[in-house]
Amino acid sequence: MAGTRAQLRGALHPIETASVDEIRALQQSRLQTVLTRVYAQVPHYREAFTQAGVHPSELRELSDLARFPLTTKADLRRHYPFGMFAVPREEVVRVHASSGTTGKPTVVGYTQRDIDTWADLVARSIYACGGRPGDIVHIAYGYGLFTGGLGAHYGAERLGCTVVPMSGGQTEKQLQLITDFKPDVIMVTPSYMLTLLDACTRQGIDSRTLSPQVGIFGAEPWTDAMRQEIESRSAMDALDIFGLSEVMGPGVACECIESKDGPVIWEDHFYPEILDPITGAVLPDGELGELVLTSLTKEAFPVVRYRTRDLTRLLPPTSRSMRRIGKITGRSDDMLIIRGVNVFPTQIEEIVCATPGLAPHYLIFVDKDGHLDRVVVHVELREGSSTTARGSLAASVRARIKTLIGISAEVEVLDPQAIERVVQGKAVRVFDRRPKPPEKGVP
Ligand code: DLL
Repeated sequence: MAGTRAQLRGALHPIETASVDEIRALQQSRLQTVLTRVYAQVPHYREAFTQAGVHPSELRELSDLARFPLTTKADLRRHYPFGMFAVPREEVVRVHASSGTTGKPTVVGYTQRDIDTWADLVARSIYACGGRPGDIVHIAYGYGLFTGGLGAHYGAERLGCTVVPMSGGQTEKQLQLITDFKPDVIMVTPSYMLTLLDACTRQGIDSRTLSPQVGIFGAEPWTDAMRQEIESRSAMDALDIFGLSEVMGPGVACECIESKDGPVIWEDHFYPEILDPITGAVLPDGELGELVLTSLTKEAFPVVRYRTRDLTRLLPPTSRSMRRIGKITGRSDDMLIIRGVNVFPTQIEEIVCATPGLAPHYLIFVDKDGHLDRVVVHVELREGSSTTARGSLAASVRARIKTLIGISAEVEVLDPQAIERVVQGKAVRVFDRRPKPPEKGVP
């Protein structure tokens, strides 16, 4: 597959293959402009810079950015709804908002030029994944305030594709359209892709005969083990697209089909840093920490040093001249601390996906049992597996959790299809029912 949709390097934007020096020079001049703009246009940034004792004119090299204050989701909430806009509201042609389970959502805005840049970057991302002009692209990310649907939509149109704007939900209808329209590319959350594959099995359709050759998955953490699961049950190459509404939406970073080695950050538009989440110190490339992003070209809603809470590392360039991020291990707020051990749901996912006989679905329940944390993991028998294997499968998962993660967990192996499938939005797999510990990290 990677061969048949091999890169036509001539079709890439010149900056994708530019020298590191060219990229750094562009970043520095754009960074200088963005800092000057937010200082002049957004009261929050002027106050935050003044409080930190820094001025945009003091950015002489890229590393000087570390002296500027971080921006958090709480800052954005404080200025709800439009207080962080850097242009008059009349110049904002669209808003999106994050769902936010508690309190007010975070509102982000786009000028017409921002929408154009976003479409360009999603088009660049789809191309990197192997999508080509003329392809049919089925979009099953939700449309609406969530950036997934419309972000993917404008990008696919910009690349010159035929877009099927299906949105999320209505699994039967999705399958019917996929079977009838024969899309080349599907863009959807990895958890909903699993739901679609399971629906195929139920309807007696061989999922390996479905038309999409490329799947562009994101909006939630997923592992390489999940990539293998999806690829083994379909004709697709499964690629990772990353983004967040506060920084733009999907297309901040995206994998390349020829290497599949972590999303390339489109560094001409976003400047990445990795921070120690506790001390706030900037870490060298290669070290695991929290991804912090500064937008370099956004007009309506620029962000300076936005704390994504996503844990990953910066990796050297491979298929493009820009740096990559490792697959996101999880968000710092998703990290469970179980009897003092840091645990990411993605670690459990890797174990479940690597256990023959189990379906790639799981739920994690955490409770307090007296003073001790109690973890129960629900997994599911793969369709057609023998129910007599339940005991040995549970023992095997329990043993691997103990050896690889270092915690004791109870494992319950449920019947096929017993775990409720994701139909809309992002997968929720963790139910931490312990009393909440106090917040950690840089204030
Ligand atoms: O999820 C934007 C998006 C839509 C990205 C469609 C990719 C595809 P938010 O709803 O603001 O925006 O959520 C952003 O989702 O900080 C990560 O924690 C998580 N996330 C997004 N993409 C990935 C990914 C969209 N590829 C938050 N891998 C981010 C892991 C991801 N986590």
